[in-house]
Amino acid sequence: MHLTRGEERTLAGEEGPSRQKAIELLVALGDIYGAERLIPIASAQVSGASFKTIGDAGIRWLEEMGAEGYASVPAMVNPLGMDLRRWRSMGIPSQFHSKQVRIVKAYQSMGLLPVYSCTPYLAGHRPRRGQHVAWAESSATVFANSVAGARTNREGGPSALAAAIIGKTAEYGLHLDENRIPRVMVEFESIPAELIPIAGYLTGKAAGNRIPMVTGLNMTPDDHKSFGAAVAATGAVSMYAFDGERAKGRRAQGPYDEKICMDSSDVKRCAEELMGGSDWDLVAVGCPHCSVRELRRMALKLKGKKPKKDCDVWFCTSRKAYAACPEAVSVLRRFGKVLCDTCMVVAPIEELYSRTATNSGKAMVYLPTLGRQKASFRTTDQLLEAISR
Ligand code: F3S
Repeated sequence: MHLTRGEERTLAGEEGPSRQKAIELLVALGDIYGAERLIPIASAQVSGASFKTIGDAGIRWLEEMGAEGYASVPAMVNPLGMDLRRWRSMGIPSQFHSKQVRIVKAYQSMGLLPVYSCTPYLAGHRPRRGQHVAWAESSATVFANSVAGARTNREGGPSALAAAIIGKTAEYGLHLDENRIPRVMVEFESIPAELIPIAGYLTGKAAGNRIPMVTGLNMTPDDHKSFGAAVAATGAVSMYAFDGERAKGRRAQGPYDEKICMDSSDVKRCAEELMGGSDWDLVAVGCPHCSVRELRRMALKLKGKKPKKDCDVWFCTSRKAYAACPEAVSVLRRFGKVLCDTCMVVAPIEELYSRTATNSGKAMVYLPTLGRQKASFRTTDQLLEAISR
């Protein structure tokens, strides 16, 4: 890999051990993947922020890096294991809380922004088309590449933090044109909007590690958010192209290795297979974090209704979205907890619940594994009906 003089100095430790460790990591990755150089990034987004996922070893590593490492570009953080303000009402044990606070302090000491969300692009940090960034959260990465038109690999937590500290990343993978070419065509026909998360779930499975070109779905930004999250959860892929973009001539036109067609019966069948039981102890919405529009829409549907109280309800969102629509939040709070900074997967949900219903294709992958839940898929409207009367 070719390094500039300044980068060589950083690598030699002339700017301190944290920057040295960070650039060593970037160079090692660059060597593995055949990068020729480091390139500047506009922002970073770091995963590995919940005590549940990183444990004591992760805290020690962050505190070591935080002793003198400092972010040199705007850098956001993935959701934590708890809402920083409402952790008690979530049922988080105080021991977990104190470990989580150490993680937050370590990130803060490195100058990372207190944006603990998987939707930084809805919280004032949407990258511009063509910008290089180093984001770690899989659903945010896929949104950045596919919808915002930025360029990022799916970083690991440590490599995203290293990129934040150096302000650069190794130029390989999705930073390069030749690796952004769709290889499989996935054509949908007549898919109901509420099943778009399932369309994403099926697309990721069909695509595997190939970038899919998706046609036949007319998606809003919120639909892209949930579609892409599911694609990245069931597939090893951090980008999709879609026909709206192709029409603008910005995407490669093939040829494709394979063409897959799915109609509404395929998608409905998959949704039925994921339905599971209906004796939930938690209904969890907001994977990825709800947008302001989604919070308002749900509040509108619930206004004038009464809560059923058969089970707990979590609406997960970013602090920015929470603050932007206090009226919607106050309606939703009658039905459950509106949580910021955290989510149903990285919170210690397995200590609190065992059967969770969700409207998220991505959560249907991770709730049974990371969350040890019996998970049930329902559309947003079905969940709102189930929690109200
Ligand atoms: Fe976000 Fe948590 Fe889902 S990080 S995408 S809400 S698993």
